[in-house]
Amino acid sequence: MDAIIFHEESKTFKLIAGESNYVLQITPKGQIAHRYWGAPVRDFDLRAMLDLAGGACIDENDENILDESNETFHAEYPGGGAGDWRIPAVTALAQDGSSAVDLRYVSHEIFDGKPALKGLPATYANSSDEAQTLAITVKDKYCGLSAVLYYTVFDGSNAIARHSVLRNDGDTPLSLNYVMSVCVDFPSMDYKMLGLYGAWARERHVEWKPLRRGGQNIQSRRGFSSAQFNPFTALAAPNADEKSGEVYGFSLVYSGSFLIEAEVDVKETTRVVMGINPYDFAWKLDAGEEFTTPEAVLVYSGAGYGEMSRTYHKLYSKNLCRGQWRDKRRPILINNWEATYFKFNADKLVQLAKLAEKQGIEMLVMDDGWFGKRENDHSGLGDWYVNEEKLGCSLDELVNRVNDAGLKFGIWFEPEMVNPDSNLYRAHPDWALAMPTRPRTLGRNQMVLDMSRKEVQDYLVERISDILNSANISYVKWDCNRFITEAFSCALPAERGREIWHRYMLGLYGVLEHLVTAFPKVLFESCASGGARFDPAMLHYMPQTWASDNTDAIDRLKIQYGTSFVYPIRTIGAHVSATPNHQTGRTTPFMTRGDVALQGTFGYELDLAKLSEGDYDQIEDQVDRYHEYQKVIFNGDFYRLISPFDDLTQAAWMYVSADKKNALVQCVMQIMTANHPPRRVKLQGLDPAGFYKIEELGVTMHGDTLMNLGFIIPEVYGDHQSVCLTIKRKG
Ligand code: GLA
Repeated sequence: MDAIIFHEESKTFKLIAGESNYVLQITPKGQIAHRYWGAPVRDFDLRAMLDLAGGACIDENDENILDESNETFHAEYPGGGAGDWRIPAVTALAQDGSSAVDLRYVSHEIFDGKPALKGLPATYANSSDEAQTLAITVKDKYCGLSAVLYYTVFDGSNAIARHSVLRNDGDTPLSLNYVMSVCVDFPSMDYKMLGLYGAWARERHVEWKPLRRGGQNIQSRRGFSSAQFNPFTALAAPNADEKSGEVYGFSLVYSGSFLIEAEVDVKETTRVVMGINPYDFAWKLDAGEEFTTPEAVLVYSGAGYGEMSRTYHKLYSKNLCRGQWRDKRRPILINNWEATYFKFNADKLVQLAKLAEKQGIEMLVMDDGWFGKRENDHSGLGDWYVNEEKLGCSLDELVNRVNDAGLKFGIWFEPEMVNPDSNLYRAHPDWALAMPTRPRTLGRNQMVLDMSRKEVQDYLVERISDILNSANISYVKWDCNRFITEAFSCALPAERGREIWHRYMLGLYGVLEHLVTAFPKVLFESCASGGARFDPAMLHYMPQTWASDNTDAIDRLKIQYGTSFVYPIRTIGAHVSATPNHQTGRTTPFMTRGDVALQGTFGYELDLAKLSEGDYDQIEDQVDRYHEYQKVIFNGDFYRLISPFDDLTQAAWMYVSADKKNALVQCVMQIMTANHPPRRVKLQGLDPAGFYKIEELGVTMHGDTLMNLGFIIPEVYGDHQSVCLTIKRKG
């Protein structure tokens, strides 16, 4: 690949990321300047095109006289304390109490492939010629902090992956109090900013807000990436939409507390930083030690949000998710949680499996309640030993019975947690995060284990491995049902106490790495009270995430719509559940529930014994449709057509196969109104010259007609009805 060019004369690097350029320059005094990110430009030296006038802190008498004032400088990785008062990328506190950082160029390297990040999940290159990396070494010669700034571009993708490795090259310790993964300076403030906000059962709702002067942020301080905000934002031109306009995506490959801040300064330029949340964070860097930031994945689209999302979908499907399940069709599963909650035994599960098999369902997942003393959510977490008394048999026997019924078997864990009422807590109270001098805060009656501790990591690996080895288990649901409070490890020395937030994540990632490597055939799905940890980092270990505890098809329209801004459809856990829905009390047609669950991994979560014959017929149809369209949904391109946020009546989306021969369009009537005006939908992603038949309408038209004129969504009667249109290319 020849995607990274160094223009010797102007000391400029140009990263050619698909159909976008990212340009940075070394100034004569070694500052690393950010010059441009966007659609391709032919020139290298872009300095004259930027307003860099004014600004304080240029001292003509100093040998370090700056070429460009730090105050107005567009910087790649700015430090604080040396004339740049905007939000920094890094600050370091030296032993003498000083804290300025000004990183200057030392050397650079351009090489094929992409290096792994030590202990952290990240995108990867499938072969060394699929990616190219630029590594720039910079150093502050006063405080001794050095950094290697990594930039990777991927063949044919508009994405750039960035991270930094900081090193203490001095003789005395430094404290990193603020260390971002990425900083990008934009030459204007004419953007709107996207936040995917939410709460339990209402994750990843879409909110665009115009940038205003000063700072605006999106963050989690909860220890996990959270349902409240996703570690993602996009800046878009004010008039950008799904199909047009410039959009800049920022996605953080991290599951812990994060910060994304956009700051508009006096010059009306905008700085965006993203990384580990500096709140309550400090990391001691002893002489010679290194710190690796999580990875940030930037995506440029000149053609609206839709194109940005598809760029993330492709990259995260093929260069972030891993393992045998990455590209494999996922089995249609039935999960017993909403069917039984804690009240089940082996006979009930086997009954469910037998009914499921008749419907073409392929795997039974045994959810919470099979271990320890676990009849409700007050006790048992941490005791990962099978409760044979409750099940009425051993796990192996149960799994064999389910396998004999023709289904694979999956199992639920919530490894990072412990109930005070558990044998584990009674034996090791110090294994839970808590502050010895304060009362503990419980969440769902549980505490969070100290994942930074080797003993805890070893215990979990041993217990989970033991269970997975004891029976023919094909799938694991890895849950995490509360946030972190009293973030304190009694195993860390005081001066490293604030490292706990990040050490927790490193410990968790280590355990996950171990398990997915040791059990490559097992399909892992992540979950956190539904979708409270739906982030790219988790997808590196587990190729699908339960999107929400809210299984209501109408609420799911919004949750899945927001999720699709970054995350591939094939990673979105979605199930058909019972009505009235357990979270909303709403009754929706069985068909709609199936159509909405198709927008994801597809499965069921209800008691099949309570269904009618009519429902069984619907399941048969849904399973057939899943098999017919799974490849298009899993591997195809996804287009959002009508936003459930903008339109109170309809929502619509579609999938198009890579060869553009097949497409599936789905529309859902959110709320019916009598005599409502006809709703027109314009398709996307077809070949304009292709001749396509919409099977259900019996109409054959060219792709350009379907995309530019569109057609009226067939009339339905009643709330929450869905329409599914199958489109086949005929010529
Ligand atoms: C969380 C999950 C649910 C279920 C329960 C079990 O809420 O999101 O799917 O597994 O825990 O306690």
